[in-house]
Amino acid sequence: MEPQFWRDRWAEGKTAFHEGKPNSFLTQFLARMTGKRVLVPLCGKADDLSYLASEGREVVGIELVEDAVKAFFDEHSLTPTVDGNRYTAGPITLIASDIFAIDRKQLGTIDAIYDRAALVALPPDLRPRYVAHLRAAVADTVPGLLVSIEYPQERMEGPPFSVPETEVRTYYPKAQLLAEQPLTSGRAAELGVAIERCYSVTW
Ligand SMILES: C[S@@+](CC[C@H](N)C(=O)[O-])C[C@H]1O[C@@H](n2cnc3c(N)ncnc32)[C@H](O)[C@@H]1O
Repeated sequence: MEPQFWRDRWAEGKTAFHEGKPNSFLTQFLARMTGKRVLVPLCGKADDLSYLASEGREVVGIELVEDAVKAFFDEHSLTPTVDGNRYTAGPITLIASDIFAIDRKQLGTIDAIYDRAALVALPPDLRPRYVAHLRAAVADTVPGLLVSIEYPQERMEGPPFSVPETEVRTYYPKAQLLAEQPLTSGRAAELGVAIERCYSVTW
């Protein structure tokens, strides 16, 4: 997707992906994602960010749309210090940037990755590049939680895209399926057949 696609979605309030509460898989399986400093790629203004912080984690979120970054802090009554595109309040740092422009040096040490609605936000041609980029940006052994969805792709145009389990396993051969449930929110849920899956992943 072009950056403008996401800027327009945020400007028009077309953010059905925003859950407005911590993701249920995250709260259920947080303990499976050990590590102090958590990278949240394509983070939007997810409440998962403040939930992770409330559980004692340091959080580094990457979000393309700066207005979404600002909205996160506003809506949580936090006043961040701003250094260029880096917004920090306590244990939460959000960087307003294209994930592909972020490197290991900018991130510092990352101990875990939490991906909800990030892999599935990207079209098929970008997904292998995205996973390779994450891998290059963190240490190889970093554990992660991945929340992904699957539905008949021909019935709806993404995003969110369907990322079947077989594809997840091409990126993360050691992926462990922790749970799955019918998808209940967002556009794909309206199809009535979409499944949401949570995996424990590492490389
Ligand atoms: C489907 S939303 C998911 C947001 C969040 N993870 C959540 O669970 O609510 C995808 C987000 O990724 C952002 N985004 C899209 N492409 C991006 C990129 N290349 N780099 C950083 N953020 C991006 C969009 O602006 C959008 O906020």
